Amino acid sequence: MVSREIMRSTTRGFERYYNPRVGNEVRLDTNVNVLGSNPAAMNFLSSWKGDINGYPNTYSDDLRDALADLYGLERENFVAGNGSDEVIDVTFKTFTECGDGCAVPVPSYVLYDFFVKMNGGRTIEVDLTEEFQLDVDAFLKTRAKVAIMPSPNNPTGNSFREKDLEEILSGFDGMVVVDEAYGEYSESSMVRRVEEFENLIVVRTFSKAYAMAGLRVGYAVSNLNVAGMMNCVKIPYSLNMLSEKAAIAAVKDQEFIRRSVDLVKEQRPKLDAGLRALGFETHPSDSNFILARSPVDHTALVSGLKKKGVMIRDFGSKRRTENCVRITVGSEELNALLLEKAAEVIEECL
Ligand SMILES: Cc1ncc(COP(=O)(O)O)c(C=O)c1O
Repeated sequence: MVSREIMRSTTRGFERYYNPRVGNEVRLDTNVNVLGSNPAAMNFLSSWKGDINGYPNTYSDDLRDALADLYGLERENFVAGNGSDEVIDVTFKTFTECGDGCAVPVPSYVLYDFFVKMNGGRTIEVDLTEEFQLDVDAFLKTRAKVAIMPSPNNPTGNSFREKDLEEILSGFDGMVVVDEAYGEYSESSMVRRVEEFENLIVVRTFSKAYAMAGLRVGYAVSNLNVAGMMNCVKIPYSLNMLSEKAAIAAVKDQEFIRRSVDLVKEQRPKLDAGLRALGFETHPSDSNFILARSPVDHTALVSGLKKKGVMIRDFGSKRRTENCVRITVGSEELNALLLEKAAEVIEECL
């Protein structure tokens, strides 16, 4: 049998990603929209009678036009992809050589390290401050080729300060990727500033507030020069035609997005208070999830909740989020269920 030595050296330590066995549990572990599938996208899918024989448009031009209308930019400011994960991958493919350093905050989205190494790069971990904000000097000192950061941050939930992002963008020689996967929930966004900074790439997704993770649609927004480079590198046709058309329908239904965001803003403080009443320490969130330090052992909490039919995400074994879990903000009923079951598990652990 060939050994792992045959793999690209930077990927030999890889393990498979989160892939839990799922039955009928309530899913508060992946931060998707708790209102359910995007209605406009579903409407399109159930009525579509078109042709699947031909290829989709090479660069998803119609979706990029719809996004250009939404943001008041041009089609060529956008790179569309098969989930924002693909777009993040394209960023490293476009801007890094094997061995290049890429700056990634700790804690942040676990797949950044995977995309850096998959492209032959070297992850440079940069710790966030005590309050989980950016350490601007530490980022600048890395002299990395690419710096990537989610704002709002996953798993901590808070947005980074715009002035810190500006300082990094101005002081950094490499590309700076601001991943706004949860951007709809936040008051701040860097999308409208893409023409101001020559090294800014903003990444967004249809997987969270847009409620269509199963269709895998994401995009990058950047100035015309940078987006042009990325479009030359991305795999042609990578976004399939049904997903593209469903995403266009979803963009045109902004009322659903407003409703989804309003639900989170209404329910988040209630869930936060409920968790604190049970002894959790919560971190302030601008997203549709809350990071909370568990009053009992994190693995016992997560597995105990799963047995009772509720899934949340365990971050308790990772540095900086010791004994923490990440919980998607649900509807009133889902949050009540989560709190009731969490109280039972905590009682059983004591
Ligand atoms: C910060 C962040 N970026 C990107 C992604 C990937 O999203 P997509 O489904 O668009 O690939 C996620 C998914 O959880 C995320 O949390």
